Amino acid sequence: MECLYWVLGCLLLAARLPLDSAKRFHDVLGSERHPAYRREHSQLNGWSSDENDWNERLYPVWTRGDARWKNSWKGGCVQAVLTSDSPALVGSNVTFVVNLVFPRCQKEDADGNIVYEKNCRNDSGLSPDPYVYNWTSWSEDSDWGNGTGQSQHNVFPDGKPFPHHHGWKRWNFVYVFHTLGQYFQKLGRCSARVSINTANLTLGPQVMEVTVYRRHGRAYIPIAQVKDVYVITDEIPVFVSMFQKNDRNSSDETFLKDLPIVFDVLIHDPSHFLNESAIYYKWNFGDNTGLFVSNNHTLNHTYVLNGTFNLNLTVQAAVPGPCPPPSPTPGRPTPSLVPAGDNTLELSGISEEDCQINRYGYFEATITIVEGILEIHIIKISNVLMPVPQPDNSLMDFLVTCEGTIPTEVCTIISDPTCQITQNLVCSPVDVDETCLLTVRRAFYGSGTYCVNFTLRDDASLALTSTLISIPGKDPASPLGMTNGALIVIAAIGCLTILVTVIAALVYKKHKDYKPIENRTGTEDKRKGLSAFLNHTKAVFLPGNQEKDPLLKDQPGIL
Ligand SMILES: *[C@@H]1O[C@H](CO)[C@@H](O)[C@H](O)[C@H]1NC(C)=O
Ligand SMILES: *[C@@H]1O[C@H](CO)[C@@H](O)[C@H](O)[C@H]1NC(C)=O
Ligand SMILES: *[C@@H]1O[C@H](CO)[C@@H](O)[C@H](O)[C@H]1NC(C)=O
Ligand SMILES: *[C@@H]1O[C@H](CO)[C@@H](O)[C@H](O)[C@H]1NC(C)=O
Ligand SMILES: *[C@@H]1O[C@H](CO)[C@@H](O)[C@H](O)[C@H]1NC(C)=O
Ligand SMILES: *[C@@H]1O[C@H](CO)[C@@H](O)[C@H](O)[C@H]1NC(C)=O
Ligand SMILES: *[C@@H]1O[C@H](CO)[C@@H](O)[C@H](O)[C@H]1NC(C)=O
Ligand SMILES: *[C@@H]1O[C@H](CO)[C@@H](O)[C@H](O)[C@H]1NC(C)=O
Ligand SMILES: *[C@@H]1O[C@H](CO)[C@@H](O)[C@H](O)[C@H]1NC(C)=O
Ligand SMILES: *[C@@H]1O[C@H](CO)[C@@H](O)[C@H](O)[C@H]1NC(C)=O
Ligand SMILES: *[C@@H]1O[C@H](CO)[C@@H](O)[C@H](O)[C@H]1NC(C)=O
Ligand SMILES: *[C@@H]1O[C@H](CO)[C@@H](O)[C@H](O)[C@H]1NC(C)=O
Repeated sequence: MECLYWVLGCLLLAARLPLDSAKRFHDVLGSERHPAYRREHSQLNGWSSDENDWNERLYPVWTRGDARWKNSWKGGCVQAVLTSDSPALVGSNVTFVVNLVFPRCQKEDADGNIVYEKNCRNDSGLSPDPYVYNWTSWSEDSDWGNGTGQSQHNVFPDGKPFPHHHGWKRWNFVYVFHTLGQYFQKLGRCSARVSINTANLTLGPQVMEVTVYRRHGRAYIPIAQVKDVYVITDEIPVFVSMFQKNDRNSSDETFLKDLPIVFDVLIHDPSHFLNESAIYYKWNFGDNTGLFVSNNHTLNHTYVLNGTFNLNLTVQAAVPGPCPPPSPTPGRPTPSLVPAGDNTLELSGISEEDCQINRYGYFEATITIVEGILEIHIIKISNVLMPVPQPDNSLMDFLVTCEGTIPTEVCTIISDPTCQITQNLVCSPVDVDETCLLTVRRAFYGSGTYCVNFTLRDDASLALTSTLISIPGKDPASPLGMTNGALIVIAAIGCLTILVTVIAALVYKKHKDYKPIENRTGTEDKRKGLSAFLNHTKAVFLPGNQEKDPLLKDQPGIL
């Protein structure tokens, strides 16, 4: 009798053993599993419970330190890189993308085979065999290409057959996504993507894990595992960029008084969940100017006081969401009471669940407002007569004024007429006290058109203006090239010469009276201004136009 019990016991054990050792999805995929997952989270559309059995015979399971990982891929390890577009506003879709990174010199070709890149040298030199994995040959060796396609091994780890969409035989990787106690399996190339709708998910951070297998004859071999945290939130993810002309550093949250700051709100909504929503932006700039409500994501605001201000923004959007709890009156009839016609039932269901709720997003910042350089103008450009004739060189004086604070440094960049190729850059400290008025002297080598950029800066601000200037050609043999200094020498030679020279000098002066060709501030419409200049170059060279600027009388130091 005892013996019988013992035999029975053994039989029972033997019968139970395979059951006990049968792996479930949650045993394979993930350390992060909590027993309550399934109860806490609603079913994801198209996903399955990780209580399902895992076919370990077809999809072997290796622990993290298993030595077999080392040989799971020819020539090194495959890395899986998982990214998501989290954070996701509850109700929107969150999308995950896995990309496989192969060892150096390997890539997937158009047929889905893994090949060595041409002319790419790895440690052991160029490969004579172009293929790392010629899966085409494998699938033809096996019954892969069998018309029925129902072979035992063309299945996912849970036994479901591969979907036979176009080209599926060239898809050689099996991706198993796992989160919230559920899994999703997918056949793919070296990249796979999956989206989940977050409408019914719990808020907060979650973990997504992905395991990737590759074909290996009639079975599969794990090649990579990866996980990433994603976040589901009930606050609209909001980013705000702040821009201000003349602001020297756009990332230090310090801005200038009396110039508009342009605020641009970017809502992170990669799945376009808010496409149909009316979005309102409510601004409080913290300077007692009140509440600004706008439906435009860009807005500008000018602070007229210096100091520190706390600005805050609330973004509001009406989105599809759960309906309020049902009223005490009897709800809609249960499905069994509804007369025949599934369509009417579905329609009523949809319309009743089509509720809207307001979602909000918030942004706060503490910004510092300081005084800075607001404007810069070139008010006069004049030629400097040189004591010694210099055939091809010209010295020019630029009279520059500014508004706002007094700059500490002035820089000039001389470049080609397109303002792109720098030829010369000079910076000098500014040493003026009360009035912002400075003369900047710069040399030009050779005739032609030049673009001259002026920047004035102090600790917080940087103002820029740009002008085009034309330096006419000089013929060294002609008296037109003479300067004042030369005139004195000539005076000793004879009156006739002086007369000729004076006349010539007068003519020359008419040609050499420069005026600013373009005198703009800011960065807008530079290109437009430039082409306008090029079209009107002739007009600019009209003689005369001596500026009678009273400021010139007390000409400040030359920089
Ligand atoms: C380099 O290429 C050869 C083929 O020529 C291959 O056998 C070898 O595994 C490759 N080595 C590495 C490190 O990828
Ligand atoms: C890859 O396999 C296919 C099918 O067997 C074969 O036609 C092809 O020649 C193979 N390529 C190489 C380089 O072995
Ligand atoms: C193709 O499938 C049929 C039916 O399932 C089977 O009889 C046949 O042996 C298969 N061919 C190969 C080459 O495996
Ligand atoms: C959201 O994801 C689901 C799959 O879960 C997909 O069917 C649907 O088209 C996606 N919606 C958008 C707007 O991307
Ligand atoms: C969320 O749950 C509701 C109610 O159970 C259901 O009607 C809806 O289809 C679910 N949405 C998603 C995306 O699973
Ligand atoms: C701009 O401000 C940021 C933040 O204060 C600072 O890290 C960065 O170095 C500044 N950049 C420059 C060019 O001064
Ligand atoms: C949302 O708008 C974008 C661009 O305006 C468009 O590409 C996208 O298809 C729209 N998505 C939905 C779900 O309406
Ligand atoms: C926004 O700023 C105003 C005034 O500074 C303050 O009363 C309000 O509480 C702030 N709102 C938030 C959400 O911080
Ligand atoms: C938003 O404002 C900017 C400038 O303030 C303007 O160019 C743009 O057309 C506006 N957009 C809408 C949709 O009103
Ligand atoms: C700022 O807004 C005003 C009107 O609100 C507009 O006239 C001005 O052009 C805007 N400035 C910038 C830099 O967007
Ligand atoms: C505002 O600017 C004035 C003049 O530059 C200065 O005296 C004052 O200290 C500044 N105030 C603050 C709060 O920075
Ligand atoms: C000169 O300033 C203009 C903007 O006014 C800019 O586009 C250009 O790149 C600058 N040129 C150089 C050489 O810095």
